[in-house]
Amino acid sequence: ANSIVVLGIETSCDETAASLVRRNPDGSGDILSNVVLSQLDEHAPFGGVVPEIAARAHVEALDGIISQALARAETTFDDVDAIAATSGPGLIGGLIVGLMTGKAIAAATGKPLYAVNHLEGHALTARLTDGIRDPYLLLLVSGGHTQLLVVAGVGDYRRLATTIDDALGEAFDKTAKLLGLPYPGGPEVERRAASGNPLRFDLPRPMRGEERLDFSFSGLKTAVRQQAAKHAPLSEEDVADLCASFQKAVTDTLEERLSRGLERFRADFPEIDTPALVVAGGVAANRAIRTALASLTDRHGFRLIAAPIELCTDNAAMIAWAGAERLALGLPAVTDDVAPRSRWP
Ligand code: KG4
Ligand code: ZN
Repeated sequence: ANSIVVLGIETSCDETAASLVRRNPDGSGDILSNVVLSQLDEHAPFGGVVPEIAARAHVEALDGIISQALARAETTFDDVDAIAATSGPGLIGGLIVGLMTGKAIAAATGKPLYAVNHLEGHALTARLTDGIRDPYLLLLVSGGHTQLLVVAGVGDYRRLATTIDDALGEAFDKTAKLLGLPYPGGPEVERRAASGNPLRFDLPRPMRGEERLDFSFSGLKTAVRQQAAKHAPLSEEDVADLCASFQKAVTDTLEERLSRGLERFRADFPEIDTPALVVAGGVAANRAIRTALASLTDRHGFRLIAAPIELCTDNAAMIAWAGAERLALGLPAVTDDVAPRSRWP
């Protein structure tokens, strides 16, 4: 086997990203370049991602971002073995831009195109960064997703749990908004929580004790709203205490829900001595959550793999890598009629 180089394209939400990744004959990988343009400033005034603005920004930026990714990797299309573009799930306008661009490059260069599920990109990142080959548990916590999955191999994903209402990042963002804090709310809630009292407000621990592994976060947000209304107008101290109490409820909930997930995994894969819990998605940047997960995995004899933040949040290296893994396995590329899918479980 030779090494292969894949160009990845990611445009499913509000990041325009391109990356070149090499997969070596031994299965390890190297990121040759990883360019991410965040549209945050364009969406911030609206308090969330505006699909129409996102699609237009992708159109304007993507060609330049791909050129930058090629230049930083000191490579050209000639040396690329395949193109991989996110084709779902996500905002349809952005997906069209990325997938069409991938098709155009594939048509012009004669290289194969892989249409990658964005979640598969997140799911396989640990195989790139950590070289892990055993099945592992993946906690994916972002603005759009909250899932617990078993990643048993390329193309072999079993979802153990999902949120029945809000995604965890969404709960952070909505909580921030109702406290008058700017978007994106996660980092701001974490910052305020640092000086707050996590025990002041008695917030619910959704799903506690339930047999099924699913998550729920909308009730928590509603409880924050009720407390905020009761104590209005809020002082800085009230806001800090609410943020701290919210974050504590989140970490408690994750610990309770996940301890069941870890036990389930242990029972299903008794042959793995020290299994891994991989955490990915923007919410994985939260230090309180990382600390809680570290102590949880410690107690259960798991190791915690948290990719560097720039590979936890949306990027194209994970898309390129998913394409490289598929190419290495000899899985078929897509044909020209492949369509983007805004929903793709
Ligand atoms: O993975 P990501 O960059 O984009 C997608 O949603 O796909 O995740 C963004 C989400 C936002 O909801 C943001 O508020 C949250 O991740 N987030 C955080 C933190 N940093 C980002 N949530 C809690 N604490 C943080 N430090
Ligand atoms: Zn994502």
